[in-house]
Amino acid sequence: MLTIDNISKYIAEIKQAKSLDQLEKIHILLLAKNGFFAHEMKKLSTLSIAEKKELGQKLNLKKQEIQKEFNLQTAYLKKIQLEEKLKAEYVDLSLPIEPLPNGGIHPISKVTEQMVNIFGQMGFSVRAGTEIEDDWYNFSALNIQETHPARQDHDTFYLNALDANKNRKVLRTHTSNVQIRTMLAEKDSLTQGKPIKIISTGRTYRSDSDSTHSPMFHQLEGLYIDKIEKISIPLLFNILQEFCETFFALSTPMRFRPSYFPFTSPSFEVDIACTIKNDALQIGIRDKWLEILGSGLVHTNVLKNCGIDSEKYAGLAFGIGIERMAMLKYGFKDLRSFFNSDVRWLQYYNLMLLKYLIS
Ligand code: DAH
Repeated sequence: MLTIDNISKYIAEIKQAKSLDQLEKIHILLLAKNGFFAHEMKKLSTLSIAEKKELGQKLNLKKQEIQKEFNLQTAYLKKIQLEEKLKAEYVDLSLPIEPLPNGGIHPISKVTEQMVNIFGQMGFSVRAGTEIEDDWYNFSALNIQETHPARQDHDTFYLNALDANKNRKVLRTHTSNVQIRTMLAEKDSLTQGKPIKIISTGRTYRSDSDSTHSPMFHQLEGLYIDKIEKISIPLLFNILQEFCETFFALSTPMRFRPSYFPFTSPSFEVDIACTIKNDALQIGIRDKWLEILGSGLVHTNVLKNCGIDSEKYAGLAFGIGIERMAMLKYGFKDLRSFFNSDVRWLQYYNLMLLKYLIS
Protein backbone atom coordinates (compact mmCIF):
# COMPACT_ATOMS: atom_id res chain seq x y z
CA MET A 1 0.00 0.00 0.00
CA LEU A 2 1.10 3.51 -0.75
CA THR A 3 2.12 5.48 2.36
CA ILE A 4 4.08 8.59 3.12
CA ASP A 5 7.01 6.41 4.04
CA ASN A 6 7.26 4.39 0.84
CA ILE A 7 6.24 7.15 -1.53
CA SER A 8 9.84 8.16 -2.23
CA LYS A 9 10.22 5.20 -4.62
CA TYR A 10 8.22 7.35 -7.06
CA ILE A 11 11.00 9.92 -7.09
CA ALA A 12 13.24 7.38 -8.77
CA GLU A 13 10.41 6.42 -11.10
CA ILE A 14 9.84 10.05 -12.07
CA LYS A 15 13.53 10.53 -12.72
CA GLN A 16 13.61 7.49 -14.97
CA ALA A 17 10.37 8.22 -16.81
CA LYS A 18 10.92 7.97 -20.53
CA SER A 19 7.72 9.59 -21.70
CA LEU A 20 5.28 12.29 -20.78
CA ASP A 21 2.57 9.62 -20.70
CA GLN A 22 4.40 7.75 -17.99
CA LEU A 23 4.79 10.96 -16.00
CA GLU A 24 1.13 11.75 -16.44
CA LYS A 25 0.19 8.42 -14.88
CA ILE A 26 2.34 9.18 -11.83
CA HIS A 27 0.81 12.66 -11.68
CA ILE A 28 -2.69 11.23 -11.55
CA LEU A 29 -1.69 8.75 -8.93
CA LEU A 30 0.07 11.21 -6.62
CA LEU A 31 -0.48 14.86 -7.38
CA ALA A 32 -3.83 15.25 -9.11
CA LYS A 33 -7.11 16.22 -7.46
CA ASN A 34 -7.90 12.63 -6.54
CA GLY A 35 -4.33 11.59 -6.05
CA PHE A 36 -2.47 10.32 -3.01
CA PHE A 37 -1.64 13.70 -1.48
CA ALA A 38 -5.15 15.14 -1.83
CA HIS A 39 -6.45 12.00 -0.23
CA GLU A 40 -4.02 12.11 2.67
CA MET A 41 -4.69 15.83 3.29
CA LYS A 42 -8.36 15.12 3.58
CA LYS A 43 -7.64 12.47 6.22
CA LEU A 44 -5.79 15.02 8.39
CA SER A 45 -9.07 16.43 9.68
CA THR A 46 -9.63 13.29 11.70
CA LEU A 47 -6.34 13.65 13.60
CA SER A 48 -5.33 15.62 16.66
CA ILE A 49 -3.74 19.04 16.24
CA ALA A 50 -0.27 17.79 17.03
CA GLU A 51 -0.56 14.85 14.64
CA LYS A 52 -2.11 17.09 12.04
CA LYS A 53 0.81 19.45 12.25
CA GLU A 54 3.43 16.78 12.06
CA LEU A 55 1.89 14.74 9.29
CA GLY A 56 0.70 17.82 7.41
CA GLN A 57 4.25 19.16 7.30
CA LYS A 58 5.64 15.83 6.22
CA LEU A 59 3.07 15.51 3.49
CA ASN A 60 3.72 19.03 2.23
CA LEU A 61 7.46 18.54 2.10
CA LYS A 62 7.14 15.26 0.23
CA LYS A 63 4.62 16.70 -2.13
CA GLN A 64 6.93 19.62 -2.88
CA GLU A 65 9.83 17.30 -3.40
CA ILE A 66 7.87 15.07 -5.78
CA GLN A 67 6.31 18.06 -7.57
CA LYS A 68 9.81 19.48 -8.12
CA GLU A 69 11.10 16.23 -9.60
CA PHE A 70 7.96 15.94 -11.66
CA ASN A 71 8.42 19.47 -13.07
CA LEU A 72 12.08 18.89 -13.83
CA GLN A 73 11.44 15.62 -15.64
CA THR A 74 8.46 17.07 -17.54
CA ALA A 75 10.59 20.00 -18.76
CA TYR A 76 13.38 17.63 -19.72
CA LEU A 77 11.10 15.25 -21.65
CA LYS A 78 9.37 18.18 -23.41
CA LYS A 79 12.71 19.52 -24.47
CA ILE A 80 13.70 16.13 -25.90
CA GLN A 81 10.36 15.84 -27.63
CA LEU A 82 10.83 19.27 -29.27
CA GLU A 83 14.35 18.41 -30.35
CA GLU A 84 13.13 15.22 -31.97
CA LYS A 85 10.36 17.07 -33.72
CA LEU A 86 12.79 19.67 -35.05
CA LYS A 87 15.14 16.96 -36.18
CA ALA A 88 12.34 15.24 -38.05
CA GLU A 89 11.28 18.47 -39.70
CA TYR A 90 14.78 19.66 -40.50
CA VAL A 91 15.14 21.33 -43.87
CA ASP A 92 18.57 21.58 -45.38
CA LEU A 93 18.54 25.02 -46.90
CA SER A 94 21.81 24.39 -48.66
CA LEU A 95 20.37 21.59 -50.81
CA PRO A 96 19.99 22.57 -54.46
CA ILE A 97 16.32 22.96 -55.43
CA GLU A 98 14.60 20.83 -58.04
CA PRO A 99 14.97 22.85 -61.22
CA LEU A 100 11.57 24.10 -62.36
CA PRO A 101 10.69 23.82 -66.02
CA ASN A 102 11.51 27.31 -67.23
CA GLY A 103 9.41 29.31 -69.58
CA GLY A 104 11.34 31.41 -72.01
CA ILE A 105 11.19 34.26 -74.42
CA HIS A 106 10.83 33.31 -78.06
CA PRO A 107 13.95 33.98 -80.16
CA ILE A 108 11.96 36.37 -82.35
CA SER A 109 10.98 38.46 -79.34
CA LYS A 110 14.55 38.52 -78.11
CA VAL A 111 15.98 39.51 -81.47
CA THR A 112 13.30 42.18 -81.89
CA GLU A 113 14.25 43.65 -78.55
CA GLN A 114 17.92 43.68 -79.45
CA MET A 115 17.19 45.42 -82.75
CA VAL A 116 14.95 48.01 -81.11
CA ASN A 117 17.65 48.70 -78.53
CA ILE A 118 20.27 49.36 -81.19
CA PHE A 119 18.08 51.75 -83.16
CA GLY A 120 17.03 53.35 -79.90
CA GLN A 121 20.65 54.17 -79.23
CA MET A 122 20.81 55.80 -82.67
CA GLY A 123 17.95 58.10 -81.71
CA PHE A 124 15.01 56.28 -83.29
CA SER A 125 11.82 56.10 -81.26
CA VAL A 126 9.21 53.36 -81.51
CA ARG A 127 5.76 53.56 -83.10
CA ALA A 128 2.99 50.96 -83.12
CA GLY A 129 1.14 49.87 -86.24
CA THR A 130 -1.98 48.00 -87.31
CA GLU A 131 -1.96 44.50 -88.79
CA ILE A 132 -5.38 44.76 -90.45
CA GLU A 133 -4.87 47.64 -92.80
CA ASP A 134 -6.65 49.73 -95.40
CA ASP A 135 -5.52 49.18 -98.95
CA TRP A 136 -4.47 52.84 -99.15
CA TYR A 137 -1.97 52.70 -96.27
CA ASN A 138 -0.54 49.33 -97.29
CA PHE A 139 -0.30 50.05 -101.03
CA SER A 140 -1.60 53.25 -102.65
CA ALA A 141 -0.03 55.81 -100.33
CA LEU A 142 3.25 53.94 -100.74
CA ASN A 143 3.11 54.61 -104.47
CA ILE A 144 2.04 51.04 -105.25
CA GLN A 145 -0.63 51.59 -107.88
CA GLU A 146 -3.72 49.48 -108.39
CA THR A 147 -2.15 47.77 -111.40
CA HIS A 148 1.31 47.61 -109.97
CA PRO A 149 2.88 44.13 -110.12
CA ALA A 150 4.14 44.62 -106.56
CA ARG A 151 0.59 43.99 -105.40
CA GLN A 152 0.78 40.54 -106.94
CA ASP A 153 4.35 40.03 -105.74
CA HIS A 154 3.18 40.53 -102.24
CA ASP A 155 0.64 37.69 -102.44
CA THR A 156 -1.69 39.54 -100.20
CA PHE A 157 -4.23 38.04 -97.81
CA TYR A 158 -7.43 40.00 -98.37
CA LEU A 159 -10.27 40.29 -95.87
CA ASN A 160 -13.97 40.50 -96.69
CA ALA A 161 -14.30 43.72 -94.69
CA LEU A 162 -14.12 46.87 -96.79
CA ASP A 163 -12.18 50.05 -96.00
CA ALA A 164 -13.39 53.65 -96.42
CA ASN A 165 -12.66 53.53 -100.19
CA LYS A 166 -14.65 50.30 -100.59
CA ASN A 167 -11.46 48.31 -101.09
CA ARG A 168 -11.05 45.06 -99.28
CA LYS A 169 -8.96 45.41 -96.12
CA VAL A 170 -5.67 43.53 -96.08
CA LEU A 171 -3.42 41.79 -93.61
CA ARG A 172 -0.50 44.14 -94.00
CA THR A 173 2.15 42.77 -96.33
CA HIS A 174 4.90 44.81 -94.72
CA THR A 175 5.45 47.26 -91.87
CA SER A 176 5.80 50.13 -94.38
CA ASN A 177 2.19 51.11 -93.61
CA VAL A 178 3.54 52.60 -90.37
CA GLN A 179 5.57 55.06 -92.46
CA ILE A 180 2.36 56.53 -93.86
CA ARG A 181 0.52 56.61 -90.57
CA THR A 182 3.46 58.26 -88.82
CA MET A 183 4.05 60.87 -91.52
CA LEU A 184 0.39 61.88 -91.53
CA ALA A 185 0.25 62.08 -87.75
CA GLU A 186 3.58 63.79 -87.14
CA LYS A 187 4.38 65.94 -90.21
CA ASP A 188 3.77 69.12 -88.19
CA SER A 189 6.84 68.38 -86.11
CA LEU A 190 8.95 68.86 -89.27
CA THR A 191 7.88 72.49 -89.64
CA GLN A 192 8.80 72.94 -85.99
CA GLY A 193 12.32 71.79 -86.85
CA LYS A 194 12.00 68.27 -85.39
CA PRO A 195 12.81 65.34 -87.66
CA ILE A 196 10.63 62.22 -87.80
CA LYS A 197 12.94 59.40 -86.75
CA ILE A 198 11.04 56.26 -85.94
CA ILE A 199 11.05 52.49 -86.08
CA SER A 200 8.18 50.05 -85.81
CA THR A 201 8.20 46.28 -85.44
CA GLY A 202 5.53 43.67 -85.87
CA ARG A 203 3.86 40.87 -87.78
CA THR A 204 3.40 40.95 -91.51
CA TYR A 205 1.64 38.50 -93.82
CA ARG A 206 2.12 37.08 -97.30
CA SER A 207 0.82 33.94 -98.89
CA ASP A 208 4.25 32.38 -99.23
CA SER A 209 5.94 29.42 -97.57
CA ASP A 210 9.33 27.73 -97.94
CA SER A 211 12.51 27.42 -95.88
CA THR A 212 13.14 31.17 -96.04
CA HIS A 213 9.54 32.42 -96.26
CA SER A 214 6.62 32.01 -93.90
CA PRO A 215 3.05 33.32 -94.36
CA MET A 216 3.46 35.25 -91.14
CA PHE A 217 6.75 36.90 -90.45
CA HIS A 218 8.16 39.95 -88.70
CA GLN A 219 9.69 43.15 -89.92
CA LEU A 220 11.30 46.20 -88.45
CA GLU A 221 10.52 49.38 -90.35
CA GLY A 222 12.65 52.50 -90.12
CA LEU A 223 11.84 56.01 -91.29
CA TYR A 224 13.92 59.15 -90.98
CA ILE A 225 12.57 62.37 -92.45
CA ASP A 226 14.50 65.61 -92.07
CA LYS A 227 15.48 68.76 -93.97
CA ILE A 228 16.50 67.82 -97.49
CA GLU A 229 20.18 68.69 -96.97
CA LYS A 230 20.46 66.30 -94.03
CA ILE A 231 19.30 63.15 -95.80
CA SER A 232 21.66 61.24 -98.09
CA ILE A 233 22.51 57.79 -99.39
CA PRO A 234 25.77 57.65 -97.37
CA LEU A 235 23.74 58.41 -94.24
CA LEU A 236 21.40 55.54 -95.08
CA PHE A 237 24.34 53.17 -95.62
CA ASN A 238 26.00 54.33 -92.40
CA ILE A 239 22.92 53.71 -90.34
CA LEU A 240 22.44 50.23 -91.79
CA GLN A 241 26.08 49.27 -91.52
CA GLU A 242 26.35 50.46 -87.95
CA PHE A 243 23.19 48.60 -87.09
CA CYS A 244 24.45 45.32 -88.63
CA GLU A 245 27.86 45.52 -87.03
CA THR A 246 26.36 46.20 -83.62
CA PHE A 247 23.74 43.49 -84.01
CA PHE A 248 26.14 40.77 -85.14
CA ALA A 249 28.97 42.11 -82.94
CA LEU A 250 31.39 41.75 -85.84
CA SER A 251 32.33 43.57 -88.99
CA THR A 252 30.52 41.41 -91.50
CA PRO A 253 30.69 41.52 -95.30
CA MET A 254 27.59 43.38 -96.54
CA ARG A 255 26.36 43.97 -100.05
CA PHE A 256 24.31 47.04 -100.99
CA ARG A 257 22.50 46.09 -104.20
CA PRO A 258 20.57 48.59 -106.33
CA SER A 259 16.99 47.40 -106.35
CA TYR A 260 13.48 48.56 -106.89
CA PHE A 261 10.65 49.45 -104.50
CA PRO A 262 7.80 51.73 -105.52
CA PHE A 263 8.09 53.75 -102.32
CA THR A 264 11.83 54.52 -102.48
CA SER A 265 14.04 55.98 -105.16
CA PRO A 266 16.79 55.04 -105.39
CA SER A 267 16.29 51.70 -103.69
CA PHE A 268 18.76 49.21 -102.27
CA GLU A 269 18.68 45.73 -100.93
CA VAL A 270 21.24 44.63 -98.38
CA ASP A 271 22.68 41.13 -98.23
CA ILE A 272 24.88 39.54 -95.58
CA ALA A 273 27.57 37.00 -96.46
CA CYS A 274 27.05 33.56 -95.01
CA THR A 275 27.58 29.87 -95.53
CA ILE A 276 26.19 26.61 -94.21
CA LYS A 277 28.61 24.86 -91.89
CA ASN A 278 27.88 21.79 -89.73
CA ASP A 279 24.27 22.09 -90.76
CA ALA A 280 24.03 25.63 -89.38
CA LEU A 281 24.00 28.99 -91.06
CA GLN A 282 27.23 30.84 -90.39
CA ILE A 283 27.69 34.49 -91.00
CA GLY A 284 30.72 36.34 -92.36
CA ILE A 285 31.93 33.77 -94.91
CA ARG A 286 31.48 34.78 -98.52
CA ASP A 287 29.75 31.72 -99.88
CA LYS A 288 26.09 32.72 -100.11
CA TRP A 289 24.35 36.04 -99.67
CA LEU A 290 21.20 36.26 -97.57
CA GLU A 291 18.99 39.25 -98.18
CA ILE A 292 18.03 40.89 -94.91
CA LEU A 293 16.55 44.24 -95.78
CA GLY A 294 15.18 46.69 -98.33
CA SER A 295 15.90 50.38 -98.13
CA GLY A 296 16.14 53.63 -100.02
CA LEU A 297 15.32 57.30 -100.11
CA VAL A 298 11.62 57.91 -99.63
CA HIS A 299 9.92 58.48 -103.01
CA THR A 300 8.70 62.05 -103.47
CA ASN A 301 5.24 60.69 -104.35
CA VAL A 302 5.05 59.09 -100.89
CA LEU A 303 6.02 62.37 -99.22
CA LYS A 304 3.36 64.15 -101.30
CA ASN A 305 0.72 61.56 -100.40
CA CYS A 306 1.40 62.39 -96.76
CA GLY A 307 1.34 66.16 -97.29
CA ILE A 308 5.09 66.66 -96.83
CA ASP A 309 6.86 69.23 -99.02
CA SER A 310 9.41 67.24 -101.01
CA GLU A 311 11.23 70.46 -101.97
CA LYS A 312 12.14 71.01 -98.33
CA TYR A 313 12.20 67.57 -96.79
CA ALA A 314 13.59 64.20 -97.72
CA GLY A 315 13.57 60.82 -96.07
CA LEU A 316 15.31 57.52 -95.84
CA ALA A 317 13.58 54.28 -95.03
CA PHE A 318 14.34 50.65 -94.48
CA GLY A 319 12.50 47.42 -93.76
CA ILE A 320 14.38 44.56 -92.09
CA GLY A 321 13.26 40.93 -91.91
CA ILE A 322 13.50 39.94 -88.27
CA GLU A 323 13.48 36.16 -88.87
CA ARG A 324 16.38 36.57 -91.29
CA MET A 325 18.39 38.46 -88.70
CA ALA A 326 17.69 35.77 -86.11
CA MET A 327 18.60 32.99 -88.56
CA LEU A 328 21.93 34.63 -89.30
CA LYS A 329 22.73 35.42 -85.71
CA TYR A 330 21.89 32.04 -84.26
CA GLY A 331 22.45 29.77 -87.23
CA PHE A 332 18.89 28.55 -87.89
CA LYS A 333 18.73 27.13 -91.37
CA ASP A 334 15.00 26.91 -91.72
CA LEU A 335 12.80 29.87 -90.93
CA ARG A 336 9.79 27.64 -90.36
CA SER A 337 11.33 26.28 -87.15
CA PHE A 338 10.40 29.59 -85.50
CA PHE A 339 6.73 28.78 -85.79
CA ASN A 340 6.57 25.00 -85.30
CA SER A 341 6.09 25.33 -81.54
CA ASP A 342 8.54 22.51 -80.92
CA VAL A 343 9.23 22.91 -77.21
CA ARG A 344 12.59 21.14 -77.43
CA TRP A 345 13.72 23.57 -80.11
CA LEU A 346 12.51 26.53 -78.10
CA GLN A 347 14.23 25.30 -74.96
CA TYR A 348 17.46 24.65 -76.77
CA TYR A 349 17.55 28.06 -78.41
CA ASN A 350 16.45 29.82 -75.27
CA LEU A 351 19.53 28.48 -73.57
CA MET A 352 21.66 29.37 -76.56
CA LEU A 353 20.36 32.92 -76.59
CA LEU A 354 20.95 33.23 -72.90
CA LYS A 355 24.56 32.30 -73.52
CA TYR A 356 24.83 34.92 -76.24
CA LEU A 357 23.17 37.62 -74.21
CA ILE A 358 25.30 37.05 -71.14
CA SER A 359 28.64 36.81 -72.89
N1 DAH B 1 8.45 46.90 -97.50
C1 DAH B 1 9.51 46.19 -98.17
C2 DAH B 1 9.21 44.72 -98.18
O1 DAH B 1 8.48 44.27 -97.37
C3 DAH B 1 10.82 46.40 -97.48
C4 DAH B 1 11.27 47.81 -97.60
C5 DAH B 1 12.02 48.20 -98.68
C6 DAH B 1 10.96 48.73 -96.61
C7 DAH B 1 12.46 49.50 -98.80
C8 DAH B 1 11.40 50.03 -96.72
C9 DAH B 1 12.16 50.39 -97.82
O2 DAH B 1 11.13 50.96 -95.80
O3 DAH B 1 12.60 51.68 -97.91
O4 DAH B 1 9.74 44.00 -98.98
